[in-house]
Amino acid sequence: MIIAVDGPAASGKGTIAKALGRHYGLPVLDTGLLYRAVGLAVLKTGGDPDHEADALGACTFKDAVLADPALRSEAVGSLASRVSIHQSVRQALVKRQRDFATQPGGAILDGRDIATVIAPDADAKIFVTASVHVRAQRRYDDALSHGGNPDMDSLIADIQARDTRDMSRDHAPLRMADGADLLDTSNLTIDAAVQQAIALVDAQL
Ligand code: C5P
Repeated sequence: MIIAVDGPAASGKGTIAKALGRHYGLPVLDTGLLYRAVGLAVLKTGGDPDHEADALGACTFKDAVLADPALRSEAVGSLASRVSIHQSVRQALVKRQRDFATQPGGAILDGRDIATVIAPDADAKIFVTASVHVRAQRRYDDALSHGGNPDMDSLIADIQARDTRDMSRDHAPLRMADGADLLDTSNLTIDAAVQQAIALVDAQL
């Protein structure tokens, strides 16, 4: 069984994917981490994320990197969104994702193009979204709880810039796949969003 969870930044897709993993007893791959690892490697080597050869050269990272807390920063998320527009970078990361998706017993993957490109034959497809304001508020609360000093206007601008780049790129743009169900988490608690996700997946199986 393969479950595809796609959606924009801070929509709640990662939280939902992990909860689905616990509910169905399936392993979960946060595919954004792969693009973040490429972005961080470009940063560390002093490369240019907008330069395709530099970004492609950064795709040879080791699995151990995926546990690096530095991957979680907003700055690295933004770099990830810049390196992910290059087709060769996306291609270099496909096999890793498909191998994970097709492991015996099944898997859950969350990202931007799981149901459209990586696993179009997934057994269940969910597109998680939320309003820009709600997503920025989540980032704001998260930063505050980690002792940060977030600025709401710049969080909104970052999310809008990332949405625009992810939705308008030529290769594997963020969009809802045919057969996917929409889950808008703007006005839902985490528990309610998870319960709705489980109901949507059960109805598709
Ligand atoms: O989901 P997350 O915020 O970690 O993703 C970081 C960036 O990586 C996204 O903004 C997107 O540009 C890119 N990405 C992608 N395809 C995926 C997952 C992430 O292009 N499947």
